[in-house]
Amino acid sequence: MATTNSSQATVQVSELARTFQTKDKPVVALDGISFEVNEGEIFGVLGPNGAGKTTTIRILSTLLLPTSGWAKVKGYDVANEPEKVRHVINMASGAEKAGYDFISARTNLWFFSQLYGIPSDVANKRIDELSDMLGLTKHLHQKFYALSTGYRQRATIARAFVNDPKVVFLDEPTIGLDVMTALSIREFLKVQAKEKGRTIMLATHNMAEAESICDRIAIIDKGKIIAIGSPDSLKRSLGAPAQIMEVKPIPQKLDFLFSVSGVKGYTSFVDNERALTTIQVVVEDELAAERAIDSVKKAGYKVLSTWRRAATIEEVFVSLVGKGFAEREQTGENE
Ligand SMILES: Nc1ncnc2c1ncn2[C@@H]1O[C@H](COP(=O)(O)OP(=O)(O)O)[C@@H](O)[C@H]1O
Ligand SMILES: [Mg+2]
Repeated sequence: MATTNSSQATVQVSELARTFQTKDKPVVALDGISFEVNEGEIFGVLGPNGAGKTTTIRILSTLLLPTSGWAKVKGYDVANEPEKVRHVINMASGAEKAGYDFISARTNLWFFSQLYGIPSDVANKRIDELSDMLGLTKHLHQKFYALSTGYRQRATIARAFVNDPKVVFLDEPTIGLDVMTALSIREFLKVQAKEKGRTIMLATHNMAEAESICDRIAIIDKGKIIAIGSPDSLKRSLGAPAQIMEVKPIPQKLDFLFSVSGVKGYTSFVDNERALTTIQVVVEDELAAERAIDSVKKAGYKVLSTWRRAATIEEVFVSLVGKGFAEREQTGENE
């Protein structure tokens, strides 16, 4: 960040906020977020469902106006100069059904290229190149409705690059896809950023995805950025590796862990087959890890095994809010 001249950052976001008026009460989707994305960077907005990711992407791609604050893409204000912004960006979402069913994938891509006024021969060359990189070539002749979910999403991703955009906004680009398709799309995005110099900003709730392709990540929760940095620096900020325990019988409540000094939070999941619970505790240091194990034993549980594991991005989130993504999604909305 220190090397970034703010007048040069590709995406600049300052105190951006958005409130939705609903029947019963206003909903604060974004509560004043600020960050910058540099040219050629893959920047991830990571957070549980409802955190404000889609709202961020929609504002930056000029589909929604902010309530307050401002954002610029390539120096253009998204609220006041949307046409200029649209000229240098593109956008795609994993949730959309982006295509006309009864024309082929190729014609769909060609059609979108024509909305940008791209000469037909240039467009066709680009479609060939993008399709080749995305492993879509063999399916280009198929009607859009006949494509499998994976190939439809490859076509949707290709569409987001057909106008040779400088900046691409992607909302959950691999949601609901099989592992192989998700991997090919991530590889494609890396090449687009690293070799073509495009700036890519993606919203995701997939921690593995954020960790594997993002240069930097902003972790958001309830419309606020709670941490920002490279995946490595975020994990290093935790200090100590996570403490894992397998315990029996399956605990009803583990809240007592919050009162153990040096414990920043925990996640747990039940392994019904083995009739045990795995608890992952985010700790400050070795002593806190020992205290956490002791507290579980004192609470009457049998600790079957324990080990330490390098911290994950989710544990960065846990250390800041005390809960994991899943627990946040269950309780986060009506607090
Ligand atoms: N059009 C809308 N009207 C009312 N509330 C909305 C609207 N869009 C989003 N929200 C609310 O704003 C919050 C953030 O939503 P969103 O940006 O879609 O989150 P995410 O993409 O991280 O799941 C949620 O509480 C959501 O219910
Ligand atoms: Mg969303």
